[in-house]
Amino acid sequence: MIHQFDPSLHNRFGFYYALLDSGLILHQDGNSLREYLSIPELPDSSDIRDAFPEIIGLEDDINKVLSGEEKEFILSGINRGNQSTICFNLHIINYSYKGYKSIAVVHDITGNLNSIRSIQQNRNEIILLHNKLLEKNTELDAANRELVESRDETRKLNLELEEKVRQRTSELKESYDLATRLFFQTVNSLTHALEIRDPYTVGHQHRVAELAAAIAGKMDLDEKTTEGILIAGQLHDIGKIYVPSEFLTKPGVLSDEEFSVIKTHPRMGFEIIKDIEFPWPVASIVLQHHEVIDGSGYPYGLTNDEIRIEAKILCVADVMEAMSTNRPYRISPGKLNAINELVKYRSVKYDREVVDACVELFESGEFNWENK
Ligand SMILES: [Fe+2]
Ligand SMILES: [Fe+2]
Repeated sequence: MIHQFDPSLHNRFGFYYALLDSGLILHQDGNSLREYLSIPELPDSSDIRDAFPEIIGLEDDINKVLSGEEKEFILSGINRGNQSTICFNLHIINYSYKGYKSIAVVHDITGNLNSIRSIQQNRNEIILLHNKLLEKNTELDAANRELVESRDETRKLNLELEEKVRQRTSELKESYDLATRLFFQTVNSLTHALEIRDPYTVGHQHRVAELAAAIAGKMDLDEKTTEGILIAGQLHDIGKIYVPSEFLTKPGVLSDEEFSVIKTHPRMGFEIIKDIEFPWPVASIVLQHHEVIDGSGYPYGLTNDEIRIEAKILCVADVMEAMSTNRPYRISPGKLNAINELVKYRSVKYDREVVDACVELFESGEFNWENK
């Protein structure tokens, strides 16, 4: 091992040495040990205790090495310099070199210690980080627990809310169904009131309503408009309730005076239903159902653009139904004549598109009262 004491290797491995004689006198072999210990005034030969006061009291151990009784004596962890800037182990080795019996070797371990300190510091930092991580994990666990609790609470609230919404929806549906039933029962009662006085128009309003709704469907009108037409159709002649029943049931031709009374029925119908809050313009449709586009209708003699589409449809359905059934004053001219009448006055009295839709419904067989 000592043969490694090649001076060029000393600094590289942190070994510095001096020779030791039996009088415990240290002989410098070059400057390296002196420089390492930062004692420039240390003479070439001096008591080893001057260079290493740490061995005072341990001279016997060293003498055992010098005498060959022991091969080596080691004193570890000697610190020197400000704030222990260097740290080394001192080895006294029994070894014959340059005429001396022993050699004192200093093994610098400052780097090792620094590494150990650095490792220790890193370890401490890691432990600190680990503890912080544990702390954070604990916080996260607590937050997570709160989150789970809050989620469970939200779930519970949602379920309660859903149940309430279900209940309320069910109540609203019942209420809506009742309102709808009441609505249709009211419309039917109004219709029935008229039918008692004028048996010839029994079913007339109903059939007109069916045909008018079918025409609206053929013309691709929207659902709400079609619903309005259906309800207005059911009530369109309700104003006849004000017309004396002998005029309504009178066989034969009516006088001008009698007819002028009958012609009041759209306005009377309007008066009867105008205050009902229908979601459709039912009163206006009823008021206009005898208006024709050339202005020869009644009660106001409105022309094309002044008449609502629902009233134009109702008017055509009314003519078609009236001519297809018997009346007190005449036998039914029949569906064919009714269609001919509509076609004759297409674009004159009756809206062109409405007539086309109505004719197509009958000619194609798509609509037939008998099937209803
Ligand atoms: Fe009418
Ligand atoms: Fe009618």
